[in-house]
Amino acid sequence: HKKGFIFDLDGVIVDTAKFHFVAWQRLAKSIGIDFNHEQNEQLKGVSRVNSLKKILAWGNATLSEEEFNSKMAQKNEEYLALVDTLTTDDILPGVHDFLLELREMGQPIALGSASKNARPILKKLGISDLFDTIVDGTNVTKAKPDPEVFTTAADQLGVAHKYCVVFEDSIAGVQAANAAGMISIGLGEQDVLHEADSVYSSFTEMPENYITELLMKKKK
Ligand code: BG6
Ligand code: MG
Repeated sequence: HKKGFIFDLDGVIVDTAKFHFVAWQRLAKSIGIDFNHEQNEQLKGVSRVNSLKKILAWGNATLSEEEFNSKMAQKNEEYLALVDTLTTDDILPGVHDFLLELREMGQPIALGSASKNARPILKKLGISDLFDTIVDGTNVTKAKPDPEVFTTAADQLGVAHKYCVVFEDSIAGVQAANAAGMISIGLGEQDVLHEADSVYSSFTEMPENYITELLMKKKK
């Protein structure tokens, strides 16, 4: 039996969540706002626009539309400068093997990311071909925690939503997967991702034959 395997990008496949954090912190500082790691968990998985809105709300700040757009562009520029340093070494442990195993088993694979930079990043890492379909921030109108990115990916794979498994490092992404009725696997800390059906600190911590286990798993 086939399932649809849907992967978030930033913080699941590649170690770019740290770059988003650094770039947002610099940006926030430029408008006199500071935020911590805990607040950053609320930015993970969240679209660029909504991230800046959250940061402004934390600082009780407002910007004109023009300033808002220029700050978003500035953040992205700094982020892309950090992304430029990416190499295949930044693919997170165990993910590449996991993807290859899924492919060998003939299981459908999708990317489901909020990022508008997803395609060039996958290309840079040389792993674009491992995905049957890619749905990213350029393809959807409703951002996580809305399930649109995952339901679109599932529909493109031709797999029923309840037979999809989503890998996520963010609270918003886990909520999106749950809202889609999909099995949610958290990558990160149990405390943060407690809404997920299961949580692992990394792909290397998953049990042996985990894919076979997932193929039999039902959404709670
Ligand atoms: C998500 C990241 O994958 O993409 C967020 O977790 C980021 O931190 C969002 O804000 C949008 O990404 P981008 O690259 O379009 O700014
Ligand atoms: Mg993520």
